[in-house]
Formats: sequence, C-alpha cells, structure tokens
Amino acid sequence: MKVLGIETSCDETAVAIVENGIKILSQVVASSADLHIETGGIIPENAARKQVEFMIPVLQKTMEGFTSDDIQAIAVTAGGPGLIGSMLVGVETAKALALVWKKPIVPVPHLLAHVYANWLNGDIPKFPALVLTVAGGHTDLILMKDHGKFEIVGGTRDDAAGETFDKAARLIGLPYPGGPSIQKEADLGDPNKVKLPRPMIGSHDFDFSFSGLKTAIAREVSKKEFSKADIAASVQEAIADILTRKTIKAAEHFKVKNILVAGGVAANSRLRELLTQRSSVPVFIPPIKLCTDNATFIASYAYFNFHPMKFDKIDAIPDPIISLEKYANFKN
Ligand code: KG4
Ligand code: ZN
Repeated sequence: MKVLGIETSCDETAVAIVENGIKILSQVVASSADLHIETGGIIPENAARKQVEFMIPVLQKTMEGFTSDDIQAIAVTAGGPGLIGSMLVGVETAKALALVWKKPIVPVPHLLAHVYANWLNGDIPKFPALVLTVAGGHTDLILMKDHGKFEIVGGTRDDAAGETFDKAARLIGLPYPGGPSIQKEADLGDPNKVKLPRPMIGSHDFDFSFSGLKTAIAREVSKKEFSKADIAASVQEAIADILTRKTIKAAEHFKVKNILVAGGVAANSRLRELLTQRSSVPVFIPPIKLCTDNATFIASYAYFNFHPMKFDKIDAIPDPIISLEKYANFKN
C-alpha cells in the first residue's frame, strides 16, 4: 500500500510517498528556515504564506514518476504541535486531493507521527518500547505497547528540550535555530567548564523541567566569565544528561525491549551518543534527515494506524493533547 503524506505543521512544506509504512519511494521537503533567521524565530504568518507558495510545487515534485492511481491513501498532519495557519495549508490540500482523487484520508497527530521515523530505517522496533519525543514544542516519554497503544508516562512541566536549546542559543548569542548552532559551538568547548543544574533529576516520576536550567544559563552568560563555546558545550551536556537519565530510568521501570527517540532534538549528536552508551536495551534513533519535520513519518504513521475519516470531519488541531483525543483516541 502506498500512502501519500503531507506535513506543514511548522515551517516545512513536505510531501512523501511511503510503501507499507517502511519504504520511502519519494520525498521532498521545502523549508522557510532562512526567512526566520532574519527574525530570530518563526513568525507564523510568514511561515504559512511560504507554505501556500511551496505546497503545489512540492506535491508535483514528489509525484514525479507516479500517478494518482499509484496512491491508495492520503495522510496529513491534522494534530499538533503545530501552527494553525501552517497546518491548514496541508489539511486543505489533503482534503482537495482526497476529493478529486477519491482516496481515503487519514488525519495524523504530529506528536506521535515523529516516532515512525524509526520504522523507516531498516530495522523494525520491538514492543513494548519507550519513546523519548524531543521536539521544539514537546518533550515526552511515551510507553508504546503496540501500534495505536500509547501512554504518556512523563513530560515536561515547563519548557521543551528544543525550546531550551533555542532560548539558550539566543542568550549565548548564537543564531536560530538554536539546537544545531549550540551543537556546532559545543564542539569547540569544554562540557564541564560551566556548572549547570539538572532540575528534577532525582524526582520519583518521569517528568522533566528545563526552566531552572534556562535561568542558570542566563546567570552564567551575564557573568561574562566563560567563552561561548564552553557555555554551549555545558548546556548541551546538561540537556543530554537530563534527557538520557530520565529515559533510562523509565525504560528500566517499564521493562521495555527498545528505546526509540523522535523529534528534532534527536538530531543532537551528544544525546545520541549518551543514550546509546548508557542504555542496556537497543536504542533506535532515526537518521538526522528523518528526525526533523518531513512527510515520510506522517505516511508511515497512517499505514500502521489506518483510521480514515470523512474529509469534512477533519480539522487542523494545533494542541497536541486535544488532537490525540480526536485522532488517536488517546486518553492521558
Ligand atoms: O521536531 P522539530 O523539527 O519541530 C517540532 O515539531 O517542534 O524540532 C525542532 C527543534 C528545534 O528546537 C531545534 O533547535 C531542535 O529541534 N534541533 C536540535 C538539533 N537539530 C534540531 N536540537 C539540538 N541539537 C540538534 N542538532
Ligand atoms: Zn516535529
């Protein structure tokens, strides 16, 4: 079965064709990230305007060599985290295509879809699995007993890990997006130079908190004692350490067979390294290209969670938890 996936939740315009949830046949991603470098972050209105411009060319390019007869279903990001204006571009395009091509349409919650990047890289994960979802807007630990059987067992009480990278970069004076620029600068620094806290590391749950870390970073930056590289390396070490320790603790508690990582921050090399070193079960981390927003995991999610809805019942729902209730029948 070939599914055409569409993803426009943030600043990417992405389309992909995936076969049986595991094989990428075609994919195109257009990003408006360059535009946001100028403003130091995303201005939602600007992102959505670019997506309107990119949507049809990206779709056409993805469909090169295919016709609508090759496609059995359409999947679209209809649940968050996402920006409403951006999400609407994808959702309305998917509805129009489904109507014209007479194909079923599967609304996909973006948060859970990220996890499926782990099905697109050869090996197939085993259940039960513990998923660490680390994105710009979300940091969650999800226990996955099977496709469609998810339970959030921990999450952030305040900022997300990606948001912390982004805010830290701004404080240090590094360019947007913060994660990649901190990683680059960290290569030149000493991760043990600046003492930063590990909030909630000893708590008896699987929750995270990053706001105290952000305050500590601001304090250290204002002292003007340390180089950018040393602060960046210490920030990266603190975030990777917190994420890894909580994930391993949950993996041991729930006796899972695999740990899966998903979301943009999964691209972080120190996080990848620490988690692999410290885990006693196999760790799945998607290739960097599949960690950040793209449509392959949207199509894969839809294949493994095939619940089409009538197109007039599908809305763009930016709030991830509300969208899970509607699209993944999910209770937290
Ligand atoms: O999943 P994603 O592409 O978008 C959301 O759905 O949120 O994640 C974006 C986040 C940004 O905060 C970005 O700074 C972070 O992922 N990120 C990284 C790296 N690459 C992207 N964080 C740390 N290290 C990286 N190499
Ligand atoms: Zn994402």
